Amino acid sequence: MEVKKLMIIGAGQMGSGIAQVCAQAGYEVLLNDLKDELVRRGLGVIEKNLSRQVQKERLTDGEKAEILQRISKSTNLQDAQDVDLVIEAAVENMDVKCKIFSHLDRIAPAHTILATNTSSLPITEIAAATNRPEKVIGMHFMNPVPVMKLVEIIRGLATADEVYQTIEEITHTLSKVPVEVNDFPGFVANRVLMPMINEAIYTLYEGVATKEAIDEVMKLGMNHPMGPLTLADFIGLDTCLYIMETLHDGFGDDKYRPCPLLRKYVKAGWLGKKTGRGFYTYD
Ligand code: NAI
Repeated sequence: MEVKKLMIIGAGQMGSGIAQVCAQAGYEVLLNDLKDELVRRGLGVIEKNLSRQVQKERLTDGEKAEILQRISKSTNLQDAQDVDLVIEAAVENMDVKCKIFSHLDRIAPAHTILATNTSSLPITEIAAATNRPEKVIGMHFMNPVPVMKLVEIIRGLATADEVYQTIEEITHTLSKVPVEVNDFPGFVANRVLMPMINEAIYTLYEGVATKEAIDEVMKLGMNHPMGPLTLADFIGLDTCLYIMETLHDGFGDDKYRPCPLLRKYVKAGWLGKKTGRGFYTYD
């Protein structure tokens, strides 16, 4: 299956990163979000990342311009009519994703693969919103996308082998490492990571230690590059809550119950780095 032109749905933290690495690997990319200003914000982040690479002499100004030229703006799902692969990176919500997939299914050509960057939601259920479940697959990038090597690849119940192989090859083309995992809530990465983050939030909630102390213990004690509360701010507290809810609903076990403090922060709109405030504050 030959893939030349891609569409990325959602120009937030993940969508902009995915658009950047795809354009850097030579693909034509359409970057889509609900409003033009959101697409422009995503493009601004890409521009800044590329400029940093120019400063570090990893890219020339000419290469940067070529990469940016490969990315076009879109605010209409109708633009999926001539793409070979869609990678959806909109908000972590099943209703939103099912609506997007069912809409794309009606517009995109029959050969088009529909991938989702979901962190935790069942691929099989998203695939069921389409009439092409064999062409639906999970392609779970890590944050920040330009830096992190791993892509978890998740087959839905009906995903075709050929589709899996195509996505595996594309992952290599993006200079990433694919790892195949099965379709269970949270896959592997977030099944293991998110309960740890949630537990760190509980230790803060119960007054066991300050946020700085909790992060310091995990950084120095476990050799983690950043503490769990800082990491939660980077991921986005809304995304952390959605993932915990998916684990809680999917396994029904109380050990996955989201911490009330996490719910409170999300209700306050303190979503972490992307809104300037989470457990810490950001410029
Ligand atoms: P974000 O909040 O930064 O960006 C989401 C973007 O999607 C927003 O710009 C929003 O306007 C857009 N959007 C919402 N509904 C849309 C629609 N119907 N059509 C087009 N665009 C729409 O969120 P983030 O962090 O980029 O997460 C996106 C997805 O990636 C989620 O499914 C999340 O679980 C997943 N993910 C997140 C990671 C993280 O560390 N934040 C890591 C790996 C996956």
